[in-house]
Amino acid sequence: MFKSTPLLSEESIQNRVREIADSLNRDYAGRTVDALCVLKGSMFFAADLFRNLTVPVRVHFMQVSSYGSSTESSGTVNLYFSSAFEVEDCDVLLVEDILDTGITMNYLLERLRARNPRTMKTCVLLDKPARRKLDIKADYVGFEIQDHFVVGYGLDYNELGRNMRHIAIIDPAAHEE
Ligand code: IMP
Ligand code: MG
Repeated sequence: MFKSTPLLSEESIQNRVREIADSLNRDYAGRTVDALCVLKGSMFFAADLFRNLTVPVRVHFMQVSSYGSSTESSGTVNLYFSSAFEVEDCDVLLVEDILDTGITMNYLLERLRARNPRTMKTCVLLDKPARRKLDIKADYVGFEIQDHFVVGYGLDYNELGRNMRHIAIIDPAAHEE
């Protein structure tokens, strides 16, 4: 397993998720949201966020991989859609767990914009601006965090820890194989 130090409590996450949902309900009033959730990290964030939406939402999933088993980005992105989805003329909201280097989101936005959405916005639970390699910002951000590798609430460390209700900082020096 791994050793970790708590960073964001379940309560603070839930409160912030409700605030983001309030903003989305305001901003998307009169529209239908086509939410595109990036697996697997956004699973709990998306589930909690969408249950706080009062505007209509269609839910889509995609799987991306830019990381191997290390805590550093490999810089390569592979993409798999869970099902066909007409992006054209839709109000697309990309839902991600974390914006780190920005490589993943930049790649996804390029691919999606080429399909002519009516609007294209991004919503991330966490933002690590210190690690950014590309000039990219999310439209909705849950929490800005410092340059730590974090785990929990969907985010994994070597596929473990996604089911934690809070978010914690991994201590790489202390983790046991
Ligand atoms: P980017 O392409 O470097 O922005 O990486 C984005 C992806 O890397 C996220 O969707 C996560 O899956 C993963 N990632 C980046 N930082 C962390 C972290 O601190 N904990 C867990 N996963 C992370
Ligand atoms: Mg991941």
